[in-house]
Amino acid sequence: MLGFIGGTGPEGRGLALRFALAGEEIVIGSRSVERGEEAAQKVLERAPGYPVSGSTNEDAAQRSDVLFITVPYTGQRDTLTALRDSLKGKLVVNVVAPLEFVDGSAVAVVVEEGSAAQQCQLLLPESQVVAAFQNLSARDLLRTSQSVDGDVVVCSDHAEAKATVMSMAERIPGVRGVDGGGLANARYVEDMTTLLLNINQIYKAHAMFRITGVEALKAVSEG
Ligand SMILES: NC(=O)c1ccc[n+]([C@@H]2O[C@H](COP(=O)([O-])OP(=O)(O)OC[C@H]3O[C@@H](n4cnc5c(N)ncnc54)[C@H](OP(=O)(O)O)[C@@H]3O)[C@@H](O)[C@H]2O)c1
Repeated sequence: MLGFIGGTGPEGRGLALRFALAGEEIVIGSRSVERGEEAAQKVLERAPGYPVSGSTNEDAAQRSDVLFITVPYTGQRDTLTALRDSLKGKLVVNVVAPLEFVDGSAVAVVVEEGSAAQQCQLLLPESQVVAAFQNLSARDLLRTSQSVDGDVVVCSDHAEAKATVMSMAERIPGVRGVDGGGLANARYVEDMTTLLLNINQIYKAHAMFRITGVEALKAVSEG
């Protein structure tokens, strides 16, 4: 079961929809059970008959094996502190990009711990935190008539959990998982979201990142 903490927003619903279509059982969490159920209904409108339900964040955390954190950065600390016990021993995927809008432009928020993902790991010392999906736009995730044309850079200090999330990412059509190294690298990935938002504003586009040369390098190191 995949659970989405704060899954009622566009990013949580977009990822939930894509993973439901890939055959996963989904529970969308919220601070209110009604909003969780409403969001599940919205996902079901696009994926009728798939196993998607809505609930509270606490219930989603308890029932799921893999949890996606899709709350805004401003709500992350309090949300994770409250869920710490329910998330013990679980794989936690942090999707949070800490940023704010100043005079119409996206600006990265400086996180004392280094990144939202590192803060998440410090708040959840007994969970396996993986940073991923921060660069995929909700709009593209929700538009299932098209594949998502972007790479997902995956960072973690837990090798097995990182490999799991890299394979999960590739279940979304058009997405490639790229090993981004340890969790300390998550700050660079999070900041790329800020850059992408500003590029999107300039071009009135929905740009995503593709990292080139990785396949060739992989072949050389393996050969
Ligand atoms: N939107 C995108 O395209 C995109 C792309 C890449 C990464 N992200 C990242 O993904 C995360 C979710 O993005 P989003 O656009 O879906 O966010 P959002 O709509 O602003 O928030 C998602 C949900 O989080 C809950 N929430 C809001 N404020 C909260 C608080 N102070 N404490 C606890 N829960 C709170 C709300 O759910 P309830 O009221 O139901 O509890 C809300 O529906 C963000 O961290 C963002 O940086 C977003």
